[in-house]
Amino acid sequence: MSAMAGRGAVWCAWGMWLRERFGVGVPVVGAPMANVSGGELTAAISAAGGLGMLGAGSAVTADWIRTEGAIAAASGTPYGIGLMAWSVKDHPEHLKAVLELRPALVSLSFGDYTPYVAPLQDAGIVVATQAGTVADAREAVDAGVDVIVARGAEAGGHGRNAVATLPLLQAILDATDLPVLAGGGISGPRGLAAVMAAGAVGGWIGTAFLTCVEAQTKEPARQRIIEADETETVYGTVFDAASRAGWPDEFGGRALRNAFFDTWEGHEEELKTEDSAHDLWVEGSKAVDPARASIYAGQGVGALTGQPTAAEVLAGFATYRDYLSAALNDGSK
Ligand SMILES: Cc1cc2nc3c(=O)[nH]c(=O)nc-3n(C[C@H](O)[C@H](O)[C@H](O)COP(=O)(O)O)c2cc1C
Repeated sequence: MSAMAGRGAVWCAWGMWLRERFGVGVPVVGAPMANVSGGELTAAISAAGGLGMLGAGSAVTADWIRTEGAIAAASGTPYGIGLMAWSVKDHPEHLKAVLELRPALVSLSFGDYTPYVAPLQDAGIVVATQAGTVADAREAVDAGVDVIVARGAEAGGHGRNAVATLPLLQAILDATDLPVLAGGGISGPRGLAAVMAAGAVGGWIGTAFLTCVEAQTKEPARQRIIEADETETVYGTVFDAASRAGWPDEFGGRALRNAFFDTWEGHEEELKTEDSAHDLWVEGSKAVDPARASIYAGQGVGALTGQPTAAEVLAGFATYRDYLSAALNDGSK
């Protein structure tokens, strides 16, 4: 891994990477979000000039991937699929369905993804992974991925809580010549301008799309997300201990704080075998009760004020160039 010399030489090309690879007009990847980014949101983001991604959680069936993938593909524009690396070992049918669909981009995050990189690339698919530390990024380079997502602690959903987006992005950019996407806390065009100025090839953006009309987010959760400000998220493994989905403890999640989280924070080991609490969480999740359900969201949640279309969100991000121009307009030549 060399540093700035190699990067400086190709500096001018980074802003074009998403455009050249996928024909993307706005440098935004709609991050994969389980239970949120199905085929409709994925297609809407891709149709509006970004690159949408299906979020295939560990609990989906291969048929879900096929059905939603077909909906995503119907936009006629490239799209991606995000798999949970830790669950692919137990669900090889997820990988099989993805290989049949041949989306343009596949991300494998959270767990050992190394065995799956070559089969995907052999099928002509660009492979990404989310890194939460520089060590993660070095492993990704060694594994041969095509693009690294520097995913900071502000991000919604699962990942590491080790380093915030800005220091992580800078450190990973200095450590690799691979293209790098920035994820975590990019809630609007100001944030996108910041990471593009730093040298990212684009934003890997989830939370900003949570309340889009095309998202699968259920109604009571939508209202809670819109009400929440930037201080109302928490990071931890409480919801994973309650769900028993099989998440490795290494990867907690960032979600909206609620009474269930507050009750069990610090007692996660006990919660793993506490059946009544598990039942309470399952019922709460089915009913989408904001006091019990895990509503995953990042610190950018405070910026969400309504229920826009994905195209409207993309149009907002597209104005990032104005912020870059304004920053350069400082009177010097
Ligand atoms: C509701 C939700 C669900 C998520 N599900 C997944 C997922 O299925 N697979 C995945 O790789 N990442 C998942 N993530 C993480 C996102 O891919 C991404 O890292 C994050 O949304 C970026 O930060 P931001 O939310 O601040 O934009 C999820 C995030 C959220 C908010």
